[in-house]
Amino acid sequence: MGGLSKKIFQIQTISDQSKQERLLLDSGNLLFKRQSVAAGPNQERLTAAAIMQIYQKIGYDAVGIGPLDMAAGMDFLQTGVAEDFPWISANISDDRDKPLFRQWISKEIQGVQVVITSLSAPPTTLPPSIKVAPWESILPELLPRMTKDRNNPFIILLSTLSTEENRLIAEQYPAINLLLGAGQHLRNASPQLINNTLVTQTDKQGQYQGLLEISFGKQRTWGQNREKQLADLQNRLGSLNWQLQRLEKKSAGNTSKEKYSGTIARLHKDRDTINAQIASLQDTITKEQSPDMFTDQYQYRFIGLESNMPDDSSTDNILKDLNRQIRQLHKKPSKAKKTTDTMTLFSPWRDLVGFRVCESCHVLQTEFWQTTQHARAYTTLAVKEKNLDLECLPCHVTTDLFTTSLQNLPKEHLLTLPRELQSVGCESCHGSGKTHSVDPERFKMVRLPGKNICLNCHTPEHDDNFDYETKLVPISCPAELNK
Ligand code: HEC
Ligand code: HEC
Ligand code: HEC
Ligand code: HEC
Repeated sequence: MGGLSKKIFQIQTISDQSKQERLLLDSGNLLFKRQSVAAGPNQERLTAAAIMQIYQKIGYDAVGIGPLDMAAGMDFLQTGVAEDFPWISANISDDRDKPLFRQWISKEIQGVQVVITSLSAPPTTLPPSIKVAPWESILPELLPRMTKDRNNPFIILLSTLSTEENRLIAEQYPAINLLLGAGQHLRNASPQLINNTLVTQTDKQGQYQGLLEISFGKQRTWGQNREKQLADLQNRLGSLNWQLQRLEKKSAGNTSKEKYSGTIARLHKDRDTINAQIASLQDTITKEQSPDMFTDQYQYRFIGLESNMPDDSSTDNILKDLNRQIRQLHKKPSKAKKTTDTMTLFSPWRDLVGFRVCESCHVLQTEFWQTTQHARAYTTLAVKEKNLDLECLPCHVTTDLFTTSLQNLPKEHLLTLPRELQSVGCESCHGSGKTHSVDPERFKMVRLPGKNICLNCHTPEHDDNFDYETKLVPISCPAELNK
């Protein structure tokens, strides 16, 4: 959620800087991190509702629906906080084939009718009485309906289908001018022209924003990327000039000038050709920039989120409200999940003993550990009133990282950890100590935690300059004095 607020700040800044009309689009998969979430009030649903509020507040024009958005069922998307949320999906319907969402929206931009539609990938298990039609059956009847009575529209397809399906669609439907993907496994993919469809996608989970600047021409075909062609030619010219200079110098101080003259003449000829090409390309560029330019042109860039970017203040209230709701929800964990139960019953805490037990034999290391940030990790959350937030707790408490990855934690138990497992304790780095604490000679601990252990928590998102060797120094416990 911290990322979302930074992303909004970035979008607002870019919009403020640009005088152009903008379209704010998201292809989908924005609400949840997995395909099904539990019923009833829980943090995942509260968070998803807040995301919808924020998207609506900053004025998204259209948002596609992916399998990760369907995790709480279709009602969740259609009712409640976001009644007029700009969801679109052309292929989600009820069991009588009645579409459940708007199938497209249109907007006039720079005098051009832009029509935006969306295709959803089906989730692994479909909610009851919901159909997600395949693109092969939808597109042939959808496209004519969308473009009817529209003069030369620009068509955008938002898609959570696979890269392969997107490619097939682009090949078969050149009428689609722009296809924005949001599959689950692709990183940033620079725009690629397939027939007449520009296909692109940004990294998942909002780590990047894609900014595509389009100037519309008279015809709905893409022009070539002249700037790149020009840069390539200028590069070649540069290297030719360099070769020529070198050869001319060599030949000047050489008795057998003929040895070089052939090559020099050829290079001169090449240079003339390239100069002519550059002149003609510059001419084309000037023409294309004139008002009656023929084709559509684009420029793009991907903009990464940086952890030091400020949060957007207009979303503050929504996020504060969300935190209040989460605290309210988690204040009294159910009686069935008492602290003692968590430690005795549930893996990955079952074999942990907590730092107080270690202290009884390792006074020196415990005193040292208490001076490190790790010992304060839980307090850090508490000060920010984030210690009841299931998104934050995994890395700010002690779990057995040698047996359970943070992704697979039974998160609800994080709220019932005993005090000695709050903060990043001994056993986060040295492994669980139940047997060792009883018979240390027979059951050894991990002495030096490897880099992979740290990386569970020191992920790029939370620590963008983690260097194992450097960061090991301030946290390495001292050896026993008598060794
Ligand atoms: C009953 C006393 C006792 C308790 C309790 C105890 N240790 Fe140890 N620990 C030892 C002794 C003794 C050694 C040295 C064993 C040796 O050298 O063979 C040791 C060694 C270690 C080592 C070095 C690696 C090894 O196993 O030789 C680490 C790391 C360690 N302990 C961590 C912990 C942690 C973490 C806890 C709490 C979960 C803990 N110990 C609890 C007595 C204890
Ligand atoms: C269970 C999660 C977790 C593990 C495992 C972990 N850390 Fe940390 N680390 C944290 C958190 C959280 C903080 C910040 C605590 C705070 O400021 O409240 C932190 C802070 C630090 C700091 C101090 C802040 C800084 O950047 O200078 C260092 C150094 C550090 N960790 C190094 C390591 C190293 C090295 C390892 C592996 C041997 C490691 N950590 C393993 C979660 C973890
Ligand atoms: C994937 C693990 C992970 C998660 C999840 C996580 N943190 Fe942290 N956090 C860290 C690590 C690692 C550090 C230490 C960073 C460093 O060394 O620079 C840290 C440091 C911090 C700090 C102190 C440094 C600072 O930036 O001021 C705060 C505050 C903090 N985290 C708050 C949170 C909150 C709030 C959440 C939930 C929204 C959260 N963390 C979720 C791993 C995590
Ligand atoms: C962030 C990771 C981390 C945490 C948390 C941590 N340690 Fe360590 N510990 C280390 C590292 C690194 C070393 C140095 C290992 C080496 O150099 O071989 C070490 C060494 C040790 C040793 C071996 C000392 C020796 O004689 O060589 C003991 C014992 C130990 N730690 C106990 C503890 C106890 C007890 C706690 C909790 C109070 C704790 N550690 C918390 C990382 C950690």
